[in-house]
Amino acid sequence: LSAGQPAQEGGGAALTPVLTRRWSAPSSWTLASYRSLDGYQALPQALAVEPGRLVELMKASGLRGRGGAGFPTGMKWSFLPQGDGKPHYLVVNADEGEPGTCKDVPYMMADPHALVEGCIITCYAIRAPFCAIYIRGEALHAIRRVTAAVREAREAGFLGRDILGSGFDLEIVVHAGAGAYICGEETALLDSLEGRRGQPRLKPPFPAVAGLYASPTVVNNVETIASVPAIVLGGSDWYRSMGTEKSPGPKIYSLSGHVTRPGQYEAPMGTTLRQLLVSAGGMLDGIPLKFFTPGGSSTPIFTPEHLDVPLSFDDVAAAGSMLGTTALMCFNETVSVPWAVWKWLEFYKHESCGKCTPCREGTGWLVQILRRVVSGAGTPEDLDTLTDAAANIAGRSFCALGDAAATPILSSFKYFRGEYEDLVSGRTPPVIDARQLVGA
Ligand code: NAI
Ligand code: SF4
Repeated sequence: LSAGQPAQEGGGAALTPVLTRRWSAPSSWTLASYRSLDGYQALPQALAVEPGRLVELMKASGLRGRGGAGFPTGMKWSFLPQGDGKPHYLVVNADEGEPGTCKDVPYMMADPHALVEGCIITCYAIRAPFCAIYIRGEALHAIRRVTAAVREAREAGFLGRDILGSGFDLEIVVHAGAGAYICGEETALLDSLEGRRGQPRLKPPFPAVAGLYASPTVVNNVETIASVPAIVLGGSDWYRSMGTEKSPGPKIYSLSGHVTRPGQYEAPMGTTLRQLLVSAGGMLDGIPLKFFTPGGSSTPIFTPEHLDVPLSFDDVAAAGSMLGTTALMCFNETVSVPWAVWKWLEFYKHESCGKCTPCREGTGWLVQILRRVVSGAGTPEDLDTLTDAAANIAGRSFCALGDAAATPILSSFKYFRGEYEDLVSGRTPPVIDARQLVGA
């Protein structure tokens, strides 16, 4: 568990921690600790206003989804049709599985009540009597911790019938996933929650119209929902005072790989990797950065020339990548790019759900070719096949996983094609011994 360090020392971006401010408090995960630090102060304020005003507040705050896509949260809440007689649901996507992404589990471990309070306020805002928190199955520790927080909240009267005398009823269920990456895709998650095999559904209809049990459903990420109580307490102007105009607020950046102090760093949206690295003690052993992902392996890689790109949704997009989950995997000059890409592709092949042909078959082909390349058995033609296959998977798959699998190949060829060419021409030695691949 990371302590949640604010990125504000020695040239980092200054910020009074918002999201992580309770993380280092003693027993921060308990109700008593949470209440001693403004916990459950936002709830009575929220319950005292019309639900629609909370939706307007979220719109005014500019909060954008923290699960990767950055969709405006208030707008998503406002999509739920009213008066059609169907129940509304909130589903929290806590199935983080993107390689490099590791912010939601620390959040749930350190401050589960912020998530629970955020769920209650959100459910009131969207008029939902039921909420499911779908947590990655491997994160048993987080499942236990959030379950305990839900129990404490119920015992304190924040859940159940007639919450704080408002007439609003709510139940929260914590659901353990079974370890499939695809169940982080929101519609596969809903199928899994309903007891079926987790595979993506056709969109539209979006979950806002037909989600859990075909009813209007908001699906939001942990960090998104956990931001809600602070916005209720602080207001939209305060929230907008942090970050950039189009990506307001604070953000948890996850630094991993060859950095001196990997971990979670809270900073305003728009902070650069160069600033974050100052807080993280720089590159490990001083070996220079070679490439990094701005938001997990499904986002196009960046190189040192992108160290000063503000890490906001729009600035990263303008520079040719995606902010994604702000999972900043940093690789130093000792790392072979084709090797890293091969490793990512092994992951996507393993996690492909098999529903559509381009992804199911294509990820297998990509892995086979990459294995040849990194073991020194590749040919120049392999490189053309690799990019051709990746380009044909991207945009032709049923869900974002297909695009994600193609991305590392296409983006690494943009900056590092020479490394692949050196391997297939024998100018550089194989990255791995071909004998390692026997039986692979
Ligand atoms: P998306 O852009 O299709 O949708 C984003 C959200 O907005 C969804 O909740 C969707 O239902 C909603 N939405 C979009 N258009 C809508 C409309 N017209 N009406 C109603 N609702 C609408 O993105 P998607 O496929 O949900 O997520 C992709 C992102 O997920 C990637 O950018 C990637 O960074 C991230 N990701 C995160 C992972 C993690 O571990 N947290 C794992 C893998 C990917
Ligand atoms: Fe399944 Fe891959 Fe197709 Fe998505 S793109 S539906 S994960 S086979």
